[in-house]
Amino acid sequence: MASGASVWELSDLCTPWCVHVVATLGIADHVEAGVTRIEDLAARSKSDAESLQRVLRHLVGRGLFDEPAAGVFALNDAARGLLHAGARIGFDLDGFGGRMAYVWGSLLAAVRTGAPEYQTVFGVPFWEDLEAHPQIAAAFDALMGPGHGTPDPEVLVTGGWDSVRTVVDVGGGTGSLLAAILRARPGVRGTLVDLPATVARSAEVFQAAGVADRVTTAAQSFFDPLPPGGDLYLLKSVLGDWPDREATAILRRCADAARPSGRVVVLSGVSPDESGPASPALLMMVLVGGKDRTLAAFREMARAAGLDVLAAQSQGTGRFVVECVTTTSR
Ligand SMILES: C[S@@+](CC[C@H](N)C(=O)[O-])C[C@H]1O[C@@H](n2cnc3c(N)ncnc32)[C@H](O)[C@@H]1O
Repeated sequence: MASGASVWELSDLCTPWCVHVVATLGIADHVEAGVTRIEDLAARSKSDAESLQRVLRHLVGRGLFDEPAAGVFALNDAARGLLHAGARIGFDLDGFGGRMAYVWGSLLAAVRTGAPEYQTVFGVPFWEDLEAHPQIAAAFDALMGPGHGTPDPEVLVTGGWDSVRTVVDVGGGTGSLLAAILRARPGVRGTLVDLPATVARSAEVFQAAGVADRVTTAAQSFFDPLPPGGDLYLLKSVLGDWPDREATAILRRCADAARPSGRVVVLSGVSPDESGPASPALLMMVLVGGKDRTLAAFREMARAAGLDVLAAQSQGTGRFVVECVTTTSR
């Protein structure tokens, strides 16, 4: 236990909910726009003035927002972190942030069953929920899209790009990584594999990058056979979303499609520490049953899927890249 923290402090749900509520109501933006009196903030945010004031005063007591005069609120450094809708996606209870917040209600069930229990709260598993709700999915895209750790394509393959003509990005989202690769490597063609609604949102990404003529898309599940014959199969931020059985199945699909001479490169979800404990990543656990894996655990999983780890290296950005070859290609 962190020193000095009582069990009551550790179990406080009040503060996180207050943060989510003021974020959802856009209070920081209203204050920045000069609306600072509680009655005006309540009117702007269509909320009840007394209730909003009680919430804001709780947050002021926790160091978020200032109250320079009674019933008048001001931004401080912490509150500036809630400015602008883009920064609040993860807190917005009416949208994606609500999914992230309410899913914690399934933690007990997840611990009891060892399986993700997202559907006990939302009726369907996480990925089906995104497929069915374009606005929620768009918020997820915004969190995952450009800027979310898109690596320099040059670092993806140890042997260089000379032998790579085709790249298949498996679970590639709306295509930002594939677009970056194709922009950097004009001789390379790419295939984006993802669920139908996600693939449908990729067209504008490829158009904007000027690479649409070198891309094909495969709107399908990565649990089904993948487009074969690619030189490089990428899995970025995919394996960490799945329990071992499913992660192995995805790797096996990649190995089958890559055989005999293609490679499989995994980014995110594997940590360099051979001996350390698996990362807690509890949100991944409740959301999708996922987890990060140590390189040692990943090696075993890859082997079971018909892959050998050829190289594993940390890049300058701290990103850990694992490159695999099919076991029969050695
Ligand atoms: C965490 S996102 C990573 C997206 C992208 N690789 C990136 O790093 O930005 C995981 C992706 O897996 C896709 N996905 C989930 N289930 C899938 C399935 N059964 N078949 C194909 N793609 C799936 C999701 O739609 C999502 O785009």
